[in-house]
Amino acid sequence: MLLKQADGTCGWLVAEAAAALSAAGVANPRRQARRLVSGALAVPPPDLFGYPERALDEQQIGRVRALLHRMVAGEPLSRIFERREFWGLEFSLSADTLDPRPETETVIEAVLRREPDRSAARRVLDLGTGTGCLLLALLAELPAASGIGIDIAEGAVRTAARNAVDLGLAGSARFFAGDWASAVSGKFDVILANPPYIASDALALLPREVACHDPWRALDGGEDGLRSHRAVAEAASRLLSPDGIFATEIGVGQEDAVAAIMKANNLIVDCIERDFAGIARCVVARPALQGRRSQKKVGMRCGPV
Ligand SMILES: C[S@@+](CC[C@H](N)C(=O)[O-])C[C@H]1O[C@@H](n2cnc3c(N)ncnc32)[C@H](O)[C@@H]1O
Repeated sequence: MLLKQADGTCGWLVAEAAAALSAAGVANPRRQARRLVSGALAVPPPDLFGYPERALDEQQIGRVRALLHRMVAGEPLSRIFERREFWGLEFSLSADTLDPRPETETVIEAVLRREPDRSAARRVLDLGTGTGCLLLALLAELPAASGIGIDIAEGAVRTAARNAVDLGLAGSARFFAGDWASAVSGKFDVILANPPYIASDALALLPREVACHDPWRALDGGEDGLRSHRAVAEAASRLLSPDGIFATEIGVGQEDAVAAIMKANNLIVDCIERDFAGIARCVVARPALQGRRSQKKVGMRCGPV
């Protein structure tokens, strides 16, 4: 049985916030309300659940209500606190970075499933790095690997570099501003990308928490949504080592078009990986005519190519 908490307590404020979020159509309002109150008051969630009778002062209530107002207006919690968890790691966000999405973890899973030796000194390139989430998540799993992340947004490059420091990965990751890989040379064992892939016309249809808070440069894939897929595939074709793999995220329904782009760039599609919702989400490709490194058996969520 849920007991009504006295006015001015933590439990009462969570209930008030949950009711406001529910009325605003926010999904999981009670969970979101707990995270809001916990973050705003810097109280760990277990303390919030364990002591709902904790009394709050006017200043604390005012702080929560100010943030609640922003959430009700459509701002995601991750943007309010400028933090997002990805692959079990904490990332800072900034105005220049995409808010990393859980389905993007499919790219990391796809690469790790094909990595026969987690202690190998792989060279990794991440195109359109944003917060650096793809590169840093992979480096966290491959301790001897090192990598470069590139983004056209200088603010994103600064945020990614700060995330590398915060995650203790600054020794193995470097970040640069650039137009895809135009200034990059050499060969890489793994190339990662999550390019902007929304067709320009469809940007107006995005939910407001995306349209108003993610940078358009992270979303806009040009007239057909494929402009950046072409650019990163061309770069991968030039920069992949003979045994290397290229793993790139795709938008809903883009698998055939992206497979054709790979083929046009002399890349062979190895597999199309599905995310936790069963949506084709990541294309994995290799250079044509390569001396293949032993391939691991692909997983259950791998679809036909
Ligand atoms: C969909 S976001 C992905 C960010 C991050 N990798 C992630 O998965 O959360 C695409 C990123 O590509 C960057 N970008 C867009 N055009 C670019 C270009 N021409 N060269 C390099 N980066 C670009 C954007 O600034 C954005 O950070």
